[in-house]
Amino acid sequence: MKYVIINGSPRKKNTWAVVKQVMKNLEGEFEEIHLMKEKIPMCNGCFRCIMEGEDKCPHFEKISPIVEKIRQSDAIILASPVYAMNVSAILKNFFDHTAYLYHRPEFFDKKAMVCVTTAGAGQKKVANYIDETLRHWGVNKVFKIAIACGGKDSLETDKVDSLVSKFAKDAESHKLSNPKFMDIVFFNVWKAMALSDDPLEADKEYWFKTGLVNHDFSPAVKLSIVKKAFSKALSFILRRVIR
Ligand SMILES: Cc1cc2nc3c(=O)[nH]c(=O)nc-3n(C[C@H](O)[C@H](O)[C@H](O)COP(=O)(O)O)c2cc1C
Repeated sequence: MKYVIINGSPRKKNTWAVVKQVMKNLEGEFEEIHLMKEKIPMCNGCFRCIMEGEDKCPHFEKISPIVEKIRQSDAIILASPVYAMNVSAILKNFFDHTAYLYHRPEFFDKKAMVCVTTAGAGQKKVANYIDETLRHWGVNKVFKIAIACGGKDSLETDKVDSLVSKFAKDAESHKLSNPKFMDIVFFNVWKAMALSDDPLEADKEYWFKTGLVNHDFSPAVKLSIVKKAFSKALSFILRRVIR
């Protein structure tokens, strides 16, 4: 199993202690990416990744190897401390550089483990935000550890260990879960946009090149009958709304 670790903490302390505990319970290869060391310039809001293609981002040389490592992995471990009730700025900057993945999701076969630490507040909200971002990337299933350290050095390892073993079992099985209804909604919104009369060119190219335009969801993921019907009905409606 290949795990890619994206560390959004500028230092290796509380959040890294959780990541280390997670690693202790997993078997496989680990590729560590410490965003602080990557020195990714701030997203300058040029829209080029979204409109023209991710390779047109002025920081493509920095972002592309990280995205490639995610592509080569079986599962992602994504970690952040809570900063001012949100993710760290370095992680948010990385997420901003991957906003094009909302339009062109590709990680349908990936599982993820989110690790968030805080002094006292915001851990659930931040873990949920990271979960939401990963699902927009297409990630199939997200597990979450959200811990308030409250000045203590100790972790509730029982809770961490049992969740990690569920994550490991799921990732190692390579079985893909039925997506949530919201995942199907977003899939169909982007698909309808790619099929519209006035599509964003980079999106259109991606949706046609991958063949995703012809599917109710990523073909790698088996939909239940109900979700298949839901996706078809939604696609029918959205094709008429988004022209
Ligand atoms: C700039 C900054 C902002 C923070 N904001 C919050 C916050 O909003 N709520 C909170 O409970 N803790 C906050 N904290 C505390 C950290 O979330 C907490 O200490 C975390 O475990 C640090 O992780 P690290 O050791 O990986 O840096 C903040 C810490 C820093 C440095």
